[in-house]
Amino acid sequence: PAMGLDDRHGRTAVDLRVSLTERCNLRCTYCMPAAGLPVTPDESIMSADEIVRLVELAVRSLGVRKVRFTGGEPLLRRDLVDVVARCSGLTEISLTTNAIGLATRAEALRAAGLERVNVSLDTVDPEAFALVTRRPFLSRVIEGIRAAQDAGLGVKVNAVLLRGVNDALAVDLLRWCLERDIELRFIEQMPLDPDHVWKREEMITASEIRALLGTAFVLETARGPRDGAPAERYVVRAHSGEILGSIGIIASITESFCGDCTRTRLTADGHVRTCLFSDDETDLLTALRAGATDGELARLWRDAMLKKPRDHGSDDVDILPTLRGMSAIGG
Ligand code: GTP
Ligand code: 5AD
Ligand code: SF4
Repeated sequence: PAMGLDDRHGRTAVDLRVSLTERCNLRCTYCMPAAGLPVTPDESIMSADEIVRLVELAVRSLGVRKVRFTGGEPLLRRDLVDVVARCSGLTEISLTTNAIGLATRAEALRAAGLERVNVSLDTVDPEAFALVTRRPFLSRVIEGIRAAQDAGLGVKVNAVLLRGVNDALAVDLLRWCLERDIELRFIEQMPLDPDHVWKREEMITASEIRALLGTAFVLETARGPRDGAPAERYVVRAHSGEILGSIGIIASITESFCGDCTRTRLTADGHVRTCLFSDDETDLLTALRAGATDGELARLWRDAMLKKPRDHGSDDVDILPTLRGMSAIGG
């Protein structure tokens, strides 16, 4: 629409990602230091009412068509089912989660109108899982995935490969997902961890991923429009030619997709974040609490989008770490 979230580079944001909390019960090495990170005090985190107000504004007045709740770990919010129930009448809602605690809430979330979950799971090997996440919770994640499928939620799995940790297990993970009819997406590691452990030379690239999987399967680029989606999709065949399923590869660094980016983000403390890599944020929550009208909030959001960068700039130099880490942005 004419009043949508346009930026200065010819793009319009129609996908909203809302982080519900900065807290997490895992400590993935590519995301957080072992000791965790300081979090914003609870009183500065959006309440359920505030989240619903901003989601409603985005959908009714700013052209947003899809909403994804992220974190931190969104299941750590006790009011998650309530938030989903109050937003699902507005538009399609999905969730990005580590699935710990999903086993007991999958049914309620489905009943509240949730459509899909994307579960972060980098390996199904218990030892490698503990190395990546620094926690021994693999069985809880697997239970959560099963419960989500039983509840009728769409499930995808997201995996980041780390050299010498879980890269050699990529084929096993893909087999595990194919057996369960789950679409697996491999994500290139991005430099968004506050410890800055990311090193370009260490990153497992999309072309390496294709080569790794090529030892066991045949990958064929899927047809159909990508529509700004981060994942490039492939049909997976056995060497016999039989179709086994499909995967995605999210090549944020080596095959970046910024030119078609349709995303806008809200941090858990209610700031518009126009790009994963841009710390130039606009604080909507303070304005909302000071009594701003919907019209005023919409204008702040639209103005914020004018600061969205053309791309993350990683082709030029090794990108500097952002002020907020991935756990506080929501991926
Ligand atoms: P669907 O396609 O709707 O299933 O979701 P999604 O892939 O957009 O969301 P998800 O939360 O599963 O994200 C998967 C990975 O893509 C995460 O590592 C995200 O950080 C990454 N990603 C999502 N949006 C962007 C983006 O705008 N830029 C970059 N560089 N990466 C992104
Ligand atoms: N690079 C790439 N993906 C990351 N994620 C978290 N940190 C990073 C990173 N540094 C992924 C999580 C989750 C998604 C939202 O982002 O594994 O699946
Ligand atoms: Fe969009 Fe920024 Fe992600 Fe590029 S890095 S796709 S511009 S959010």
